[in-house]
Amino acid sequence: MSETNLIEKINNIRKEKNAIILAHYYQVPEIQDIADFIGDSLQLSQQASNTQADIILFAGVYFMAETAKILNPKKKVIIPDKNAGCSLADSINASDFNKFLQNYPNHIVVTYINTSAEIKAMSDIICTSSNAVRIIESIPKDKKIVFAPDKNLGNYIKKITGRDMVIWDGACHVHEEFSLERILELKNQYREAKIISHPECKEPILIVSDFVGSTSALLNFVKNDTSKIYIVATETGILHQMKKAMPEKLFIPAPPIDSTCGCNDCKYMKLNTLEKIYFSLKNEQFEVTLPEEIIEKAYRPIKRMLDLS
Ligand code: 13P
Ligand code: SF4
Repeated sequence: MSETNLIEKINNIRKEKNAIILAHYYQVPEIQDIADFIGDSLQLSQQASNTQADIILFAGVYFMAETAKILNPKKKVIIPDKNAGCSLADSINASDFNKFLQNYPNHIVVTYINTSAEIKAMSDIICTSSNAVRIIESIPKDKKIVFAPDKNLGNYIKKITGRDMVIWDGACHVHEEFSLERILELKNQYREAKIISHPECKEPILIVSDFVGSTSALLNFVKNDTSKIYIVATETGILHQMKKAMPEKLFIPAPPIDSTCGCNDCKYMKLNTLEKIYFSLKNEQFEVTLPEEIIEKAYRPIKRMLDLS
């Protein structure tokens, strides 16, 4: 089937079934181009919570689709590929986290949205990369904090807020792989370039960056900044929207340590294709379901975050 045919079929079926397609910035360009809404984790959860559609097709990864289900449990939430996981979400599980938390009684448990529903259910409040500082600052100063699972984001906000935080040792396989050395070589080649990075990157990369922010913050930055060249240290999918918004500027994907691995692409995000989206809508697969008890418990910390955002 040609891409045009596929898009026509997707358009017909989403109309017929009153389905909405939510896509993360890390999706392949052709998915971003047909989405009803593209955004970062926070914006996507806000959309999922407010939609009137009957079906939410989540073109992203599993924890994002689970969050949509928790926020809007009466809707059918489907994901085109059920193997679209997240190495960061996988770096923590409920049993280990439970043991860990026993060492830190009376701490406020803040978890990043990149976690399973079970972990969210064990948390006091959720954050994303775009609101992490605000969420931490909303916690009374005399309270100690546990932050999980991303150590790079955790250390970054600990430094900014100066708060007493115990941080889980997790990371994302994409953001951990950027090479400081190769980024600096590029900077040497394009002296006027600005380095911009996602807070999931390791500290040395954040230190040399001109700007650090969530995917949507990075996009807004390049739209409003006067530079012409950027070295972008996050998953490559975001470059599509940057190039569309600012076609006259040059965006260079930050290189990973291994120049042959293509690991600045998230292998989970990139599992989704237009074809899988069509079959997902047609067969209403793969449906995301969660036990009611988990939905109830995980809803509260997510709602707290949304109220503060
Ligand atoms: P954002 O919330 O910045 O879009 O980040 C999502 C993500 O998975 C980063 O790896
Ligand atoms: Fe998870 Fe990293 Fe992929 Fe984001 S880029 S979805 S944190 S594995």
